[in-house]
Amino acid sequence: MQNDFLNAVDFSHYLLAKTVKKGDVVLDATAGNGHDSKFLAELVGTKGKLYAIDIQHQAVNNTIKLLKKDSLFKQAELINSDHAELDKYIEESLKAVIFNLGYLPGGDKEIITKSESTIKALNKALKILEVKGIIILVVYTGHEGGKEERDVLLKYSTDLDYKKYNVLNYKFLNQPGPPPEIIAIKKRK
Ligand SMILES: C[S@@+](CC[C@H](N)C(=O)[O-])C[C@H]1O[C@@H](n2cnc3c(N)ncnc32)[C@H](O)[C@@H]1O
Repeated sequence: MQNDFLNAVDFSHYLLAKTVKKGDVVLDATAGNGHDSKFLAELVGTKGKLYAIDIQHQAVNNTIKLLKKDSLFKQAELINSDHAELDKYIEESLKAVIFNLGYLPGGDKEIITKSESTIKALNKALKILEVKGIIILVVYTGHEGGKEERDVLLKYSTDLDYKKYNVLNYKFLNQPGPPPEIIAIKKRK
């Protein structure tokens, strides 16, 4: 029998689908090849809004192409920038944010997310997160620098005030790879 637990990416989409409704404003903080953006654009619908940021032009283009192909571009705004600068582009409060960390699959493996800018972006995203909104980090540790980023993010999220945030860490303990894991932060009040 196949493993019947959701993998990290499917679990991140499960959490997004439970949280995001039509008309919501959401952010994909690492647009990449656009798969998370596509999922979010479908959830918010044409009355909602998806912001999608990536530091690489190639990723922004890939995401635009995917959204256009599926007629989901109308509700999207693509931003070619470091996500640490997200407050320059987004004024609304956000129902959900996803960070899918690491490098662009099929792209330059030297360009990776780094804890310093990820933490800056996370801080800014938490400030504009709606109550009952969610931030999801899909964290990869198989590449150089990945473990360091994971450790910094785990420490940061473990230290968040439990009266304000519920924080979850979801990972497979006995898989080779190593598989990606999830850190999910829900704002309680
Ligand atoms: C694993 S990929 C994202 C996958 C994507 N969410 C998808 O569904 O295809 C990670 C992305 O993070 C981007 N990235 C790296 N550092 C960044 C930064 N400081 N700000 C914004 N994007 C960054 C990379 O360019 C890469 O496209």
